[in-house]
Amino acid sequence: MLAIIGGSGLTRLASLEVSHRRLAGTPYGEPSAALTFGRIGDRPVVFLARHGDAHSIPPHQVNYRANLWALAECAPAGIVSVAAVGGIRSDLRPGDLVIPHQIIDYTWGRHSTYHEGPDSPVRHVDFSHPYDQSLRRKLRDAGTAVGLVVSDSAVYAATQGPRLETAAEINRIERDGADVVGMTGMPEAALARELGVPYAAINVVANYAAGRGGSHAGISLDAIHQVLEGAMAQVRALIEAMLNSDD
Ligand code: HPA
Repeated sequence: MLAIIGGSGLTRLASLEVSHRRLAGTPYGEPSAALTFGRIGDRPVVFLARHGDAHSIPPHQVNYRANLWALAECAPAGIVSVAAVGGIRSDLRPGDLVIPHQIIDYTWGRHSTYHEGPDSPVRHVDFSHPYDQSLRRKLRDAGTAVGLVVSDSAVYAATQGPRLETAAEINRIERDGADVVGMTGMPEAALARELGVPYAAINVVANYAAGRGGSHAGISLDAIHQVLEGAMAQVRALIEAMLNSDD
């Protein structure tokens, strides 16, 4: 089974033949939405809408621990996380798909580990390479197979949100070495690592990051929604191709 976390613009998967939905309780509270089980082609899939079915949970209030815990309990072969980003690197344009290979975390105040509190001994995990290489490769190869242009290396900066960044913050984040910026990639990736579930991301460039390219004078939220609507068809095609190639 493959688990998919859908972000802004992907609260449902059109090609998913739904068999049932299940509200999952976890020791960390409830996930953002019911888990949706079904098939894409003949492959079993479990889908979770990160921001809730009504897109009402902002990035800093997503219960990442409950989300990842609930998905891990389904024992998936991997988790593919779909998330919108702003493009910082100059070759990235709205509508592009990116499979990031690294992360810089600027978030704060989020529950970012399962190993805290009086009953849980401290545990450190290796996070040198935050995404699962094999899952990334499968996504890249599936993209190539269906003729999608997918950028297969990028450093993802996770910011706190929910506001977008200032132009000066983007300058700093770029100096730090980031190529794209989003609000939900952390602690999601780290929690998946703690749970030992292979995790990779598909980032959809929704806009030029603040102060860049067409966002020089500001970022249009309407334009973001339009780009995401258009690009999600590509995301679905990529996921379907990956599932079909997975023999
Ligand atoms: N910054 C942070 N998160 C985002 C952006 C952005 O510009 N676009 C979509 N998600």
